[in-house]
Amino acid sequence: MGSLLVDRIGELVTNDGRNGDPLGVRRDAALLIEDGEVAWVGPARYAPAADRRIDAAGAAVLPGFVDSHAHLVFAGDRAAEFAARMAGEPYTGGGIRTTVGATRAASDGELRAAVGRLRAEMLRQGTTTVEIKSGYGLTVADEARSLRIAAEFTDDTTFLGAHVVPAEYADRPDDYVGLVCGPMLATAAPYARWIDVFCERGAFDADHARAILACGQAAGLGVRLHANQLGPGPGVQLGVELDAASVDHCTHLSDADVDALAGSATVATLLPGAEFSTRSPYPDARRLLDAGVTVALATDCNPGSSYTSSMPFCVALAVREMRMTPAEAVWAATAGGAAALRRTDVGRLTPGARADLVVLDAPTHLHLAYRPGVPLIRQVLHNGVPR
Ligand code: NIG
Ligand code: FE
Repeated sequence: MGSLLVDRIGELVTNDGRNGDPLGVRRDAALLIEDGEVAWVGPARYAPAADRRIDAAGAAVLPGFVDSHAHLVFAGDRAAEFAARMAGEPYTGGGIRTTVGATRAASDGELRAAVGRLRAEMLRQGTTTVEIKSGYGLTVADEARSLRIAAEFTDDTTFLGAHVVPAEYADRPDDYVGLVCGPMLATAAPYARWIDVFCERGAFDADHARAILACGQAAGLGVRLHANQLGPGPGVQLGVELDAASVDHCTHLSDADVDALAGSATVATLLPGAEFSTRSPYPDARRLLDAGVTVALATDCNPGSSYTSSMPFCVALAVREMRMTPAEAVWAATAGGAAALRRTDVGRLTPGARADLVVLDAPTHLHLAYRPGVPLIRQVLHNGVPR
């Protein structure tokens, strides 16, 4: 493969956390890549020789985005539901069953092509790591094939058999929880790294969620949780109790929820695309950050509540609507996402990290929020390979 030097970087975001600057910004920098990893970072004038060279010409370079929450395995869309919402209908999550029907009816090839399309769309927008959930199959066979297909695209696959109770179990939710903990988990676990539950009124309550997550843990899966999205609830504190890597949404939080997060290793992952797309009040990132909570940003890409694959869009929303600074939002979309996946090999550009990076068509990371909606991703390197 040989070595590759990314040279004349105007602003390099390393996320090395040195000198009290979480972004670890270096100016007039260069970065050497060997064997798909960052081998050296330093001032451009000391750049070592390399087999090949990319001239960043003064542009900003950031770690590739880490999108730690995405539901990419589905068929069809729900554009009409979105239109109805924009005309005043509320979002309830009830549309999930529509997507379950379409997903069950799709062939493996159709699902694989749909995931591939979204994964490529993400890569073009700078996302080099993505978590992918199941959750639109909700039978033993359909959850297993969703995860099998997801695993073709990422190591961070998440079993979300407990997304909603499917229509055929509507009057016997306990039986469905038994199915999820039993044969469904057994079939899904070989393809999954994580387990997730939609803990919300209308989906799964705290007792069901605790039981399902405990089974997942016993099967060797890490815990993550959809919590406190549509209203206050027990999800966030349940996640902290179970040492979840992340509790996601966190839109409706009590002071006790914030305190629990602040004293834990659980990341709060905020998904502003969902509030945008459901026309809901945004979570208050400032409150979490001021309390010392680790915050991540992710797209929640799915056909119902947030059909965006764009991390730059989420960064812009977080800055404009959630009281994050541009630096905090960029950190949350890179290092924060890595923390939410309990990974140390991505989300930073320091020696030993994977050479996943983005060259912006801009001199600084500030432009991601300052120039919303503009395609600022000039080049993406994934494992050191230009895409
Ligand atoms: O994270 N909240 C639950 N699941 C998804 C929405 C799924 C859907 O509406 O299809 C979410 O927002
Ligand atoms: Fe989600």
